[in-house]
Amino acid sequence: LTAAAAAVALSFSAGAALAQCDDGEMVIKFSHVTNTDRHPKGIAASLLMERVNEEMNGTACMEVYPNSTLYNDDQVLEAMLNGDVQLAAPSLSKFEKYTKQFRIFDLPFMFKNIEAVDAFQASETGQAMKQSMMRRGLLGLQFWHNGMKQFSANKPLIEPSDAEGLKFRVQTSDVLVAQMEALGASPQPMAFSEVYGALQTGVVDGQENTWSNIYGQKFFEVQDGITETNHGIIDYLLVTSVEWWDGLDPEVRGQLATIIQEVTETRNAEAYAVNQEAKQAIIDAGSEVRQLTPEQRQSWVDAMKPVWEQFEGDVGAENIAAAQEINA
Ligand code: LMR
Repeated sequence: LTAAAAAVALSFSAGAALAQCDDGEMVIKFSHVTNTDRHPKGIAASLLMERVNEEMNGTACMEVYPNSTLYNDDQVLEAMLNGDVQLAAPSLSKFEKYTKQFRIFDLPFMFKNIEAVDAFQASETGQAMKQSMMRRGLLGLQFWHNGMKQFSANKPLIEPSDAEGLKFRVQTSDVLVAQMEALGASPQPMAFSEVYGALQTGVVDGQENTWSNIYGQKFFEVQDGITETNHGIIDYLLVTSVEWWDGLDPEVRGQLATIIQEVTETRNAEAYAVNQEAKQAIIDAGSEVRQLTPEQRQSWVDAMKPVWEQFEGDVGAENIAAAQEINA
């Protein structure tokens, strides 16, 4: 990638593919579903692209396709196994077809904040999870952070009973389906790119997501307000195909792995701040952010926590205990 081509690429709109690779460079396609500004994943992917295209110029060239412009999360892992895309960072909820271990990350109130998630992932158990899908052809390279989830709907959500009977979009995850059922709500699994339209037209009444996703997809425009529940997390696995990764020249692989690790450390440290900025932008746009009293929050905990038991067999009682110890 030449400097001039980079300038052209950067002037593309957020939705456009940044395809400015030179002949002979190995093309690395990275497909994801979020926006690129005020978003932990969007910013990290852009930084990764920048660094690869600068430091590996002549050898490799990365193209990032944000905003579901290339694939949505239901398609991207298949595409990766077919060799059509080399990197993606789906949320941990989206790996259900490949492993049930990640279900621990979807359990409501399992982690008190993103630092607790980070500490769990840094443990031996967490690190081993990156290799848990190799038999299925997928290799986790690094965990990338987003943040805590908040609830929103087309009416105020203060008590868990306020969610009763409402339709909520969830990611395709059995845990999240069970979580909404525990509230007496109706879970509707749906691709991320469809959510705004579904909220706008009333196909669903509410949703759960991080500040950066609520901001990036403008969900706040079509909801009554957002309740700061911090009831769960969205985190990502930067994933590649075993076949592609193993086929790389060792030196190229090493250089890429180092850049990926450095970008991960730099951007994970900023994930919380990025979400706080997104939250402020939502407030500045005039949307109502509702706080819960400790008692109100406890009633959400009481309503949703029984879900843990349903999935204890999948995630391991010892892992739940380890996560709780980190929270303490
Ligand atoms: C969602 O589908 O809500 C999220 O996983 C999207 C994302 O990548 O943060």
